[in-house]
Amino acid sequence: MRVGGSDPIREAARLLVDRRNAVALTGAGISVESGIPSFRGAQGMWGKYDPMEYATLHAFMKSPRKVWEMLSEMVSVCGGAAPNAAHKGLAALEEMGVVRAVITQNVDGLHQAAGSRRVIEYHGNMEELLCVYCWKRYTTRERWAPGAVPLCDCGEVLKPNVVLFGDPIPWLAQEQAEEEARSCGTLVVIGTSAQVSPACDIPRIAKESGAAVVEINPEETSLSRNVTDIHLQGSASEVLRLLMEELSRGG
Ligand code: OAD
Repeated sequence: MRVGGSDPIREAARLLVDRRNAVALTGAGISVESGIPSFRGAQGMWGKYDPMEYATLHAFMKSPRKVWEMLSEMVSVCGGAAPNAAHKGLAALEEMGVVRAVITQNVDGLHQAAGSRRVIEYHGNMEELLCVYCWKRYTTRERWAPGAVPLCDCGEVLKPNVVLFGDPIPWLAQEQAEEEARSCGTLVVIGTSAQVSPACDIPRIAKESGAAVVEINPEETSLSRNVTDIHLQGSASEVLRLLMEELSRGG
């Protein structure tokens, strides 16, 4: 915690109220309590699947069926998950006019399912599949089934509309995210290790543009010491619950 005062939750609530126009940047950690594993760390996806073999555009172009071993797990885990209290808390903060947008690196659609309206999907989503040869698009629901690899009418293996390593960030999402970062009063960074570029630049852009940075994460990250103003160390659902309580008391 780098802002004065002995109660970081109260300090964070005060920042949100005083500075207005808060934006949230979320990562896999916010969906852990919905049963979706994060990427790094002991139980993370990248402990099971080497991202260089399973999560690059190059790997997909070379061996799409192998990459679908990992993608199938993601589709079925995300498909069976429901928003948790943290997703719902962020949606409530948008409803209250405290948070104006959510930039998410997640592809699980849980912010929208919780009721958030302004969601910028920085790494795409799992809803859609596209053919990288003939550019035809399908919904995942219409083409994917457990244990099978989804195929295009042209016979090629379909790619989900998610950003793999080596894929560009969807240009509109990148523009919108940077604009939100440049103009927000507070950036609330939730559940990301901030190790993947260019998403990890968003907190720095916000900070350099004058925003306060509040981080919600049980662990320290590369942001915690140099970029974060207030680090609320705990699970996303618990910290957001305490923040909401504080805000309802008047911040
Ligand atoms: P990571 O797995 O790198 O980091 C998850 C973060 O969530 C860690 O810092 C944890 O400490 C934190 N965390 C765990 N449980 C939490 C909880 N209950 N509440 C709050 N925080 C919690 O996931 P990301 O930073 O999202 O990209 O990963 C970024 C990108 O790397 C992903 O979008 C994906 C991946 O490779 C691509 O595949 C392109």
